[in-house]
Amino acid sequence: MKKLAIHPPITNASGPLSVTREELEALGRSASGAIVTKSMTHCPRVGNPEPRLVPHLEGQRGSINSMGLNNLGYRGYAELMSTLKSFGKLVIASISYAPCEHKLPLEEQYEEIAQTMIQSGADMLEINLSTPNLTGIPISNDPESIRRVLGPLCKKKKIPIGVKISPYNNTLLLFEEVAQLLMELKVDVVTTMNSEPNVMDIDLKTRTKVIKPREGYGGYGGPAILPIALAEVHRFYKFFKKYNSPIQIWGCGGIIQAEDAIKHFLAGASVVQVGTALLWKGTAVFAELSRGIEQWLKKNGHSHLEEIVGTVREL
Ligand code: DHB
Repeated sequence: MKKLAIHPPITNASGPLSVTREELEALGRSASGAIVTKSMTHCPRVGNPEPRLVPHLEGQRGSINSMGLNNLGYRGYAELMSTLKSFGKLVIASISYAPCEHKLPLEEQYEEIAQTMIQSGADMLEINLSTPNLTGIPISNDPESIRRVLGPLCKKKKIPIGVKISPYNNTLLLFEEVAQLLMELKVDVVTTMNSEPNVMDIDLKTRTKVIKPREGYGGYGGPAILPIALAEVHRFYKFFKKYNSPIQIWGCGGIIQAEDAIKHFLAGASVVQVGTALLWKGTAVFAELSRGIEQWLKKNGHSHLEEIVGTVREL
């Protein structure tokens, strides 16, 4: 499978401002290197009751959300595909799972959506195995379920397959097992990480939790998760390097300014994604970050990003 070229090496993270036609077209017009859709499910979903997103937690600590997979349903995104492709950049279909009236088993939902996206012209699939806002543990925490979902997709792969996963910072044995499995399945890209799951904030004035769904627990994004994401990226980078695996790491988590993206590249990411920063700054964030990354590289004597990927030094 040919190596993916994303220019600039920065895209939106699936979720924020990537649900509707209007939002996706705005991504198309922006300097983002690709358009990544909101994670789509078999049936359309309205998502969780509001308030379900706080973009600005007190003290610029980041964002918290429990959107509940609000999306147009995969047929809705299939209809948009030709318009999205007309922007001339890669269109990446993010695919997720949620129970629906059709009662299709997990792997059949992923399969049906994936095949439709490929037929519609998607350039890549990002298989989301890590939504933190449904009940039960994320698929990426359970190797058996990972194999069930990815096995059939990877066996007859027609376009690159990326996998979006949860952090493994406190489950290092699980990390090893999952990393090994992803190598065996020959995914093309690992996007790490999804939001930090199951966090909570409190509004002191009202003494209430800041979001309503799931008793106030949601996914955390923004500056505070940068060190968590860097550790995830680097752990995967070193693991894949040890086994000479060609799997690319896409870094996601905590990127607000260009220097944050540079840290992701040094840790081992070859592409980065932004979620909370897109909520904060709008689609202008892509041009801003891309300029900042270019300037940093130039100032530090590099002509290509590849020169710095994974080059963080030990003390
Ligand atoms: C939602 C949040 C996620 O982090 C994700 O990966 C998928 C869906 C959501 O609540 O909509």
